[in-house]
Amino acid sequence: MDSKRIAQWGKQFGDAFYLLDTARFQQNFLELKEAFLAVYPNAALAYSYKTNYTPKLCKIIKQLGGYAEVVSDMELELALRIGVPEEKIIWNGPYKNYKKVEKLFLTGGMVNLDSVYEIPLVKEIAEKYPNKKISLGIRVNFDIKDHMVSRFGFDIFSEEFQEALRLEEIENIHIAGIHCHFASRSLETWQVRIEQILKLIDQTGIHPEYLDLGGGLFGRMEESLKEQFPCKIPTYQEYARTAEPFAEYFSKKNKPLLLLEPGSALVGDCMHFFSKVINIKTVRGKAIATLLGSVYNINPTLNGKNPPISIYPMGEIQKHYYNLDFGGFTCIESDYLYRNFDGALAVGDFVGFGNVGSYSVVLKPPFILPNFPVIDLEGNVIKQAECFDDLFHTFEF
Ligand SMILES: Cc1ncc(COP(=O)(O)O)c(C=O)c1O
Repeated sequence: MDSKRIAQWGKQFGDAFYLLDTARFQQNFLELKEAFLAVYPNAALAYSYKTNYTPKLCKIIKQLGGYAEVVSDMELELALRIGVPEEKIIWNGPYKNYKKVEKLFLTGGMVNLDSVYEIPLVKEIAEKYPNKKISLGIRVNFDIKDHMVSRFGFDIFSEEFQEALRLEEIENIHIAGIHCHFASRSLETWQVRIEQILKLIDQTGIHPEYLDLGGGLFGRMEESLKEQFPCKIPTYQEYARTAEPFAEYFSKKNKPLLLLEPGSALVGDCMHFFSKVINIKTVRGKAIATLLGSVYNINPTLNGKNPPISIYPMGEIQKHYYNLDFGGFTCIESDYLYRNFDGALAVGDFVGFGNVGSYSVVLKPPFILPNFPVIDLEGNVIKQAECFDDLFHTFEF
């Protein structure tokens, strides 16, 4: 990326825009899939829509034969609209609209139960369609030694989990899968996931058709970002190697489908955000630049990390700054996109932030300004800039 190109896009699309690298996204999908296939021959990837449900990306996954992991009827609708076959849709999450779940069950989709409230709802559907086989998965919850208590799934030591397992006793219900997902991304927690899942299969004697290990993998990132995490950032291949005990366990048995649900690992490094420097000031010795951009554009989960950063000079005379903070356009005091920048900068320059693909465009609140457009590397519009009416048409005036 060079200043000339950014200046040209700035003229065409405005002083702030996202850039989507779809080739990188494809490459990530294929490489992660290859890594797991090299260890276990029956592995597949489901893209976690919530991470970044840009339809262009969801379509790429469909074209590459991947599954869609959805957590709401809104996301389900998206998968169906872009033509993902039902048998390649996985519905997870703590709340599910059971009217829509019923339809997905009947058309062969995969639904993973999260909590006990779903059991009577599934039984009702089974009773209503006695000639249909209802296949489902159960999300399980156990200690992965990350000092966190996840609120999702059935505690494997609970009576509720036993109650879920007893669904198998109903003639037309089949427990086809076991699912888990944990937010921790370290390699050590992946080893525990695999160990625990295999232990669970032994203990319960179930023969799953699929084992879904969820997401929670780091993706590719620049060294400057890696350094800000307390653990090592594994490669795709290192994650895949944690599945070796899994491959060993099923070496002489029917091999269930091993599913993963990556979101961040596929899309994190596929998006950049560019925004113009509007002002530079010094307040009691602290240099602060204001951008046409906000932390809510790039990091609405407020993880406090400094993303990879590049400055694109636009011809104004630059000055060298130390410990400069890049503040956002909102009126929130804590709205900083980047802290303690050292380098040359001028009003009018563009600042590019890398690794903003996950939980950014989908989480940006409609606060103060509608969101900026998304373009691809060829300058095609992937998502138009939002406008006043996009945000206000549901309000009564
Ligand atoms: C069930 C499930 N699967 C997959 C993901 C994707 O996770 P990540 O972006 O960490 O890969 C999430 C994220 O919350 C999730 O809840």
